Amino acid sequence: MRILVVDDDPIVLKMVTVTLSRAGYEVLTARDGKEALMRVDSIQPDLIILDVMMPEMDGYELCRRLRGKPSTAAIPIMMLTGTGTLESKIAGYEAGSDDYMLKPFEPAELEARVRALLRRRAIPPGVVGVKPEMTSHIIAVFSLRGGMGVSTLAANLAVGLTRIWNVPTVLVDMVFTCGQCALMLNLPLRSTWANLTRIPFTGRIIPLSEVDATMVNQVLLTHPSGVRVLAAPPTPTQGEEIDAERVTHVLTLLRKQHSYIVFDLPHDFKDTTLVALDAAHQIVYLTAPDIASVHAASRALEVFEELGYPRSKIFLILNWTFQSRGLPRKDIEAALRHPIDLVIPFAPEPLVDAINTGMPPVSKQAEEPLTVLFEDLAFVLSKEEHKAQQPASPTAVWKRVWRRQQKRQQ
Ligand SMILES: Nc1ncnc2c1ncn2[C@@H]1O[C@H](COP(=O)(O)OP(=O)(O)O)[C@@H](O)[C@H]1O
Ligand SMILES: [Mg+2]
Repeated sequence: MRILVVDDDPIVLKMVTVTLSRAGYEVLTARDGKEALMRVDSIQPDLIILDVMMPEMDGYELCRRLRGKPSTAAIPIMMLTGTGTLESKIAGYEAGSDDYMLKPFEPAELEARVRALLRRRAIPPGVVGVKPEMTSHIIAVFSLRGGMGVSTLAANLAVGLTRIWNVPTVLVDMVFTCGQCALMLNLPLRSTWANLTRIPFTGRIIPLSEVDATMVNQVLLTHPSGVRVLAAPPTPTQGEEIDAERVTHVLTLLRKQHSYIVFDLPHDFKDTTLVALDAAHQIVYLTAPDIASVHAASRALEVFEELGYPRSKIFLILNWTFQSRGLPRKDIEAALRHPIDLVIPFAPEPLVDAINTGMPPVSKQAEEPLTVLFEDLAFVLSKEEHKAQQPASPTAVWKRVWRRQQKRQQ
């Protein structure tokens, strides 16, 4: 295994080199970003370690450039930083780094982290050895008002579907201004929608004729559950460049390779959002039990009707995003003239934990109420042909969901 270390400080270079050479790695060094960029293609490292504070080109810029080059886009990157502030973590994350280490560090920790990063790289992309069925099932999670739990639900649903059926599933972040799917699942932002839009640094917009299945596949991130994620661009400006035509094109490519597509949608009816809503077999609409949220839900349902969506396409969820004094369910159903299909209880701890650790409740093993709820929901929203019979090799999650379904029917 070959590791490229980039640092302007000769003492750090020496220490990293000694530590990693002793651990059996081949270590090559560069003194600044320019040298690293010039040599990286001939070195072809398996991992790159780079310092944040370097003259001329800092570590973030170098990281962005490496992510922007197709030949280096997928190489794991670790950053060495002097400060462990939240700000520096976010900056590293946005630049596309996989991990970071605080200076000064213990050789043993460096070695352990390097081993972990290289191992993680060995995870095969997506669910392996399973061919997607010819038709993909599309679920769009939506609300006209923010803060209703759309992203939380979309992430949990996608992980849940993968774990129940073990089939290729993709979570598509459509919140182009500031999407958080990757962050919620604790995935480094190696590549995003932006990589399907513009070639970094040359500034060339990629013609749609060049955006093919292989390119889309390279851009998808992979969660340990097997779920793949098409992440939102790191900056809002990059998001503005994605138009409805591009979304339609990418969706066509995703459909060919995934059994389930879950959309995390923004809170608007922009034309890019409409591509997803139109294509969806099921729209999961979320509302909270307060006047403003119910009002937004009512507007949205009107628009759905104008768009000609059948009522059965809408799955209405009442999400208790706050603790008490909400409107009664019956009143909400009367106001919306639509039955509430599911109620999610107020559950701050598990959800906030989930966001801060990148582990959605549904990926936990325990039979916690929220895990049960998300797993059962994923089952309910699954394809009819999936639900109709026992899979050839049922997963552990399928077995417990099935057991619960049977019990309920008794
Ligand atoms: N049932 C719930 N109980 C407690 N907090 C919730 C619940 N549902 C969502 N939240 C919290 O509300 C916030 C907004 O959720 P998010 O999924 O980002 O919403 P959206 O995508 O609709 O803006 C998050 O902090 C989430 O943890
Ligand atoms: Mg959101």
